[in-house]
Amino acid sequence: MNLEINQTKLSQELNHLATFSEVPAPAVTRIIYSEQDMQAREYLDKLFQEANLTIRKDALGNTFARWQGSEPELPAVATGSHIDAIPNAGMYDGTVGVLGALEAIRALQTSGFKPKRSIELILFTAEEPTRFGVGCLGSRVMAGTLDEEGLSKLKDKDNQNPDEVRKQVGFTGSLEDIKLPQGYYSAFVELHIEQGPLLERNKQDIGIVTAIAAPATLHITLEGFGGHAGALLMPDRKDALATASEIVLATERAAKTSGSLDSVATVGILDIHPRAVNSVPSKVFMTVDARDIDLTRRDKMIQQIKAAVHIAREERGVIGKIETINADPPAECATEIIEAIEASAKELELKTQMMVSRAYHDTLFMARVCPVSMIFIPCKNGVSHRPDEYSKPEEIEKGVKVLAHTLAKLSLT
Ligand code: HGY
Ligand code: MN
Ligand code: MN
Repeated sequence: MNLEINQTKLSQELNHLATFSEVPAPAVTRIIYSEQDMQAREYLDKLFQEANLTIRKDALGNTFARWQGSEPELPAVATGSHIDAIPNAGMYDGTVGVLGALEAIRALQTSGFKPKRSIELILFTAEEPTRFGVGCLGSRVMAGTLDEEGLSKLKDKDNQNPDEVRKQVGFTGSLEDIKLPQGYYSAFVELHIEQGPLLERNKQDIGIVTAIAAPATLHITLEGFGGHAGALLMPDRKDALATASEIVLATERAAKTSGSLDSVATVGILDIHPRAVNSVPSKVFMTVDARDIDLTRRDKMIQQIKAAVHIAREERGVIGKIETINADPPAECATEIIEAIEASAKELELKTQMMVSRAYHDTLFMARVCPVSMIFIPCKNGVSHRPDEYSKPEEIEKGVKVLAHTLAKLSLT
């Protein structure tokens, strides 16, 4: 199959999508259900229609753009990713898997390929945790791991939950209809930038994902006893920030001493109250993001971090609350999907490397619906979630070609 990928058109579309942002280029901030997100979705709907795809949207705004196959009653082959972007991020995280998948479908259409199974492109809602605190909102509900009650507990900074906000931006329908039955798709393959340095460092064209790390998120609130930075003597203090500092270092230590490079843990948010130069911090809110490809090691880190919170509280007389926002198992990718990707890359004479994904993706939850894997492409210096995130057009083209070949193979099974 000799596919023509329109690299120029794809680059133009990626650049245009990046303009829907709260911050000026080269950074991208696109928060779920924001004005920029809704404009970006409108732009993509237009592109999907131009490719003659049939569009369906569920109650959270997950968008399904389908290329009908000759046997539409068979479970479709799915692909896709997300377009929401964390604050001051880059323009390739997620978007390559949406626009790249669209270009793969267009190239297959142009080549005269006729799918047996329908091929469906999914735009997932809220892959990033920015607004509601937990990532992969859309795919969690699709996979049945997050229900209406769980959704109602998630709040944004205006204390609104996803159900309230989705209605305000025009997504209607029942939340119950979002869940997909097991086997609804025959396969799911996501194209994504690696967000790490290995492919570039090893001069590989394509990463084939064999497993996706298990993410967990804690929210920790510490209440001390603040007061005047001059008059409050040290023995009388219950400094919430000093307490938090011990927990930050305990978080780092838990990952560094796990015995494996696959363990990572990060305190990404630390809000101090009242945040005044001459006032002892009385309250701190902080988040912990802990992950590992091995569930036992990940859970051991979480236990160590919780123990550190307990000790810090006891020794410093600070009141502390720990909330586990999510603690998900890792996902194993399916051999048959991995082999389909590997065969496709071989046909294209591209160099491949088997690897785990340390970032989570919607694929982590789609693994509960059907067999999955992912196609990674290199990104410059392994950088992501930063404005200098970058993948070359020719690297993206190779990923799109492998995806197109893989979708074609899987749609004829
Ligand atoms: O955090 C992650 O792994 C993903 O980029 N949301
Ligand atoms: Mn991301
Ligand atoms: Mn992503």
